[in-house]
Amino acid sequence: MADPFIQYVDLHKSFNDKQVLCGVSLGIPRGATVVVLGGSGSGKSVLLRHTIGLHSPDSGRVLVDGVDISEFNEKQLLATRKKVGMLFQAGALFDSMTVFENVSYALFEHTDWESDRVRQRVTEVLGYVELEQVEELMPSDLSGGMRKRVALARAIALAPQAILYDEPTTGLDPITANTINKLIRSLQDRLGITSIVVTHDIQSAFNVGDRIAFLYKGVIMFEGSMDEARTSDEPILKGFLEGGGYG
Ligand SMILES: Nc1ncnc2c1ncn2[C@@H]1O[C@H](COP(=O)(O)OP(=O)(O)OP(=O)(O)O)[C@@H](O)[C@H]1O
Ligand SMILES: [Mg+2]
Repeated sequence: MADPFIQYVDLHKSFNDKQVLCGVSLGIPRGATVVVLGGSGSGKSVLLRHTIGLHSPDSGRVLVDGVDISEFNEKQLLATRKKVGMLFQAGALFDSMTVFENVSYALFEHTDWESDRVRQRVTEVLGYVELEQVEELMPSDLSGGMRKRVALARAIALAPQAILYDEPTTGLDPITANTINKLIRSLQDRLGITSIVVTHDIQSAFNVGDRIAFLYKGVIMFEGSMDEARTSDEPILKGFLEGGGYG
């Protein structure tokens, strides 16, 4: 693949003798949205977390924008974490902070901007996720869909080149889920952002992705376009796409 923005090369990772990733190789093309599918516990979140150095591989490499980050220390990882935002699977917002404090947090940490500029940026990114005048609300004042959007605003505050979405639509009703999927698409279209979307939701996967990667038994057993996935006769992938179960 020509010049992927994110690349995993023969990634291995175990926890307490349990092998989770057993040689994952996958490239994420610049500007593309790749959906990672796989059963619960197959290692999807673990894979995403390697991308910003929240796990380091036992062996293999993770390249972000051409740079091998697999041996980076916390200080070296700061630049990577500015380039790659992550929408976490659970507990996305700080409950004791207002929306403004949540979204501005990384801006105060990573920039030396004046508070006016920070305020402007917070309003701007809340605009991207179609929220207005929510800055002073607490997370508990928001609906589940709004909370996801605030978390997304927070993930894009530093203008990342890539975003990792871990189950962005889980727990949302289908209409709200669809709004989130459209937002993911529009961030890709408007800002050219490279995305990895981890999901259980096959419908969302087809709405949002350009390509699918299927993680099974610690390796990428299938990678291809949406059409290739739809017409694949690989029985395990087929079973997963049809029933959300295995083969
Ligand atoms: N920090 C950790 N310490 C020990 N084991 C871990 C750790 N993180 C993940 N694991 C284990 O790695 C395996 C894969 O976990 P992971 O969270 O990546 O699954 P997943 O594919 O994201 O599942 P789900 O769809 O349910 O979110 C699980 O067996 C999990 O218990
Ligand atoms: Mg997970």
